Amino acid sequence: MTILHIDSSINGDTSASRAISRSIVDQLRATDAAATVTTRDLVAKPLPHLTLDAFADTTVLDEFLAADTIVIGAPMYNFTLPTQLKAWLDRILVAGKTFRYTESGPEGLAGGKRVIIALARGGVYDAGSPASALEHLESYLSGTFNFIGIQPEFVAADGLNFGPEQRATSIRQALGETIRLAA
Ligand SMILES: Cc1cc2nc3c(=O)[nH]c(=O)nc-3n(C[C@H](O)[C@H](O)[C@H](O)COP(=O)(O)O)c2cc1C
Repeated sequence: MTILHIDSSINGDTSASRAISRSIVDQLRATDAAATVTTRDLVAKPLPHLTLDAFADTTVLDEFLAADTIVIGAPMYNFTLPTQLKAWLDRILVAGKTFRYTESGPEGLAGGKRVIIALARGGVYDAGSPASALEHLESYLSGTFNFIGIQPEFVAADGLNFGPEQRATSIRQALGETIRLAA
């Protein structure tokens, strides 16, 4: 297994998404002693905003294409993904490499990879809940990876701002789910 581990939380050691993504990687490694892991911390080493010139540098794209398993820590900030993670996605959504347009519409070219995303959200955005219309994290990541031919898997810790007990319970449940994911 060739794992690419991406993190994008600004919260360092207290980050929920980092704890969950780390657990996913640990679980995957436990199933494959030969697994290799490349880590990209988008906060420690941020990618600049996209420019036309940036397309000339394919380092980030090549790293993505070389991995068969991608684990992403994705916190919700202001109802969507951190801009650091958006800058990374801007480098992997490349026409002719990860998708192409055909006469019958767009076609994903990155199928066959496993993408597992650790979501951390302060609130709750389940369908039917009052805030559901503001959920632009899971829906965005799901749609974006679908576009390039990948069906991502999600592990979510929600309601993290509803108090310390709820936060602890939610993170504990998500960490428990990571065991099932790697099974
Ligand atoms: C700058 C900032 C913006 C946030 N915006 C939202 C938000 O729009 N909706 C929400 O449910 N939680 C929001 N939160 C709460 C985070 O989603 C929550 O703290 C979560 O734990 C973040 O993941 P992390 O711990 O991995 O950084 C925000 C937190 C920060 C720091």
